[in-house]
Amino acid sequence: MEARDRRGRPLRDLRISVTDRCNLRCTYCMPREHFGPDHAFLPKDDILRFEHITDVVEACMELGLQKIRITGGEPLLRRDLHVLVSMLRKVHPNADLALTTNGVILGRHAERLLNAGLDRVTVSMDALSPSVYNEMGDVEHGPEATLRGIEKALDVGLKVKVNCVVRAGVNEGELLPLIEHFGPRRVPVRFIEFMDVGTTNRWAMEEVVTSQNVRRIIATKLGEVTPLEATAYGEVARRWQTPQGWEFGTIDSISAPFCGNCTRARLAADGSIHTCLFSTQGKPLMPLIKSGATTKELSMALKSIWTSRDDAYSEQRGPRTASPSERIEMSFIGG
Ligand code: GTP
Ligand code: 5AD
Ligand code: SF4
Ligand code: SF4
Repeated sequence: MEARDRRGRPLRDLRISVTDRCNLRCTYCMPREHFGPDHAFLPKDDILRFEHITDVVEACMELGLQKIRITGGEPLLRRDLHVLVSMLRKVHPNADLALTTNGVILGRHAERLLNAGLDRVTVSMDALSPSVYNEMGDVEHGPEATLRGIEKALDVGLKVKVNCVVRAGVNEGELLPLIEHFGPRRVPVRFIEFMDVGTTNRWAMEEVVTSQNVRRIIATKLGEVTPLEATAYGEVARRWQTPQGWEFGTIDSISAPFCGNCTRARLAADGSIHTCLFSTQGKPLMPLIKSGATTKELSMALKSIWTSRDDAYSEQRGPRTASPSERIEMSFIGG
């Protein structure tokens, strides 16, 4: 039973946010003035349990699910996350199973995650220089723990990618150091255009560094970059290679939106399903799950949500799209 949305796009990926909490306060995602000590995070009882999550995954499999990404907030703050990984691996032995993390506590979890069946990790890291890392993440510590986490993940045999959100005037100077550090380690760094997601990050077009400019900065120092073929349908990153043979990616969600083949659904930590990153409202699944619905019934509910989907926010950006006061935060819905 494959499901196609109103634009003919199948459901292939599920991004699961297991917590809305994080141990960093990246200014573009969880600015401290909005996510301070008084912020109302989800109460524990409202957060999906691991069994609920696997129920939803099983239901999505009937609709053609191939890729699962565990995300947050910071997913490693969720206790015993490796147990969820092994449960997911059991229900979907062939899934591409990945985790997005800021890497700060990855070192102590990497081996358990691999053994539980995780394929790969994507580590968010916006700078190598301690002062720029502090500024982007609004934290006191530098990138050392994250770098150790990445080394550990590589050592145990996880595949690793790095995500770097680029903000004009803040971390453009970090692009080359990041590529020069990770290129020889065969870890692709993906440079993400700063997006207008959520309502709190004071996004401004002037702060977006386009993919074209990213490539220009890199080519000036390392030589002309060449495009690489896409590896999968619906891949969000465009892949490039430097003359040294180092792969990097650009995620051009502002300058070249990719809604046309967006096959992603998002399950927020409160059990709501969102069919777009720029969603204003999710569809609650918790009542159905708690009522003891069968996989078939959950699948039917998901199919009905997916077949009525018409989202293409990034392609339609402008006055007709949701006003910023309505959009859900990325730390809640899952990057
Ligand atoms: P891979 O399978 O490793 O290539 O993962 P991915 O392509 O799904 O990339 P990842 O999950 O690391 O996402 C990278 C970034 O791309 C996210 O953090 C977002 O900033 C952006 N992104 C991912 N999915 C979407 C999407 O559906 N819409 C938009 N506008 N941006 C997205
Ligand atoms: N624009 C672009 N990327 C963002 N991320 C978080 N907020 C934004 C934003 N406003 C990225 C993080 C991480 C992933 C989960 O989402 O850097 O890599
Ligand atoms: Fe946390 Fe990731 Fe958001 Fe940074 S981008 S605040 S690490 S969830
Ligand atoms: Fe998909 Fe929405 Fe992102 Fe477009 S804006 S790629 S529809 S999540």
